Amino acid sequence: MVRTWLAAERPDLGVVLGSGMGGFATRLSGERRLDFAAIPGFGEARIPGHAGELVIGRLGGRPVLCQSGRFHAYEGHPPAQLALPIRVMASVGVTTLCLTNAAGGIDPRLEPGGLMLLTDHLNLTFRNLLAGPVAAGETRFPDLSAPYHAGLRALAREVAAERRIPLAEGVYAGLTGPSYETPAEIRMLARAGAAAVGMSTVLEVIVARACGLRCLGVSVIANRAAGLASGRLDHAEVLAITRAAESRLSDLLEGVLGRA
Ligand code: HPA
Repeated sequence: MVRTWLAAERPDLGVVLGSGMGGFATRLSGERRLDFAAIPGFGEARIPGHAGELVIGRLGGRPVLCQSGRFHAYEGHPPAQLALPIRVMASVGVTTLCLTNAAGGIDPRLEPGGLMLLTDHLNLTFRNLLAGPVAAGETRFPDLSAPYHAGLRALAREVAAERRIPLAEGVYAGLTGPSYETPAEIRMLARAGAAAVGMSTVLEVIVARACGLRCLGVSVIANRAAGLASGRLDHAEVLAITRAAESRLSDLLEGVLGRA
């Protein structure tokens, strides 16, 4: 189905755009969109701020496949559905995947609105989408000693320096949500080495690595994590900060994809 929609396009670059980051897809030329609802097995993305569509278009003449909106474990989807978009990317020829997300900053140096390159992650969802039979083309025990590709990270640093985009780095803790963390949980995560916390990405990266994709992860720091700032955490504010950072994130992605 997706292959038919792609027609003659053979993208080797893929991007997963998190909440409030869908604007990146408008930078593609000749973009065409496919609603998740039209793809067998996808269902619909139901989170405000998530478009829920695939977008194919070109960046500097090279085809890029964007997934605008994603499935989250907290929506209650079965594991196969959570893994499907990544497997679709791999099956149509994507070999390099940039995953973006909104995250809460645990490291006090991370300012809301800033960007953080993922150096590694903690999968604290207590799930793994690879449980069950081994999918075709995947291995039983994928290696995760380098979940985020060193060469892509170096490239991201280079692009950030050239374009004067402040880019922090750190470990992302992926939790299931949907509730935000408690201050005690954030203190625990800080001790475990996490710089930022969010509700996505880790499960997708595990599937992507099982499919052999090179991954890059970038977080938009949408807020200081629970207990680190006065006030409550609110999804609408998280989304507003993410949207405000969107053009910087898109500049970074554009630079990276242009040379990946
Ligand atoms: N915690 C978890 N997920 C998030 C946060 C947070 O503070 N901010 C944005 N996504």
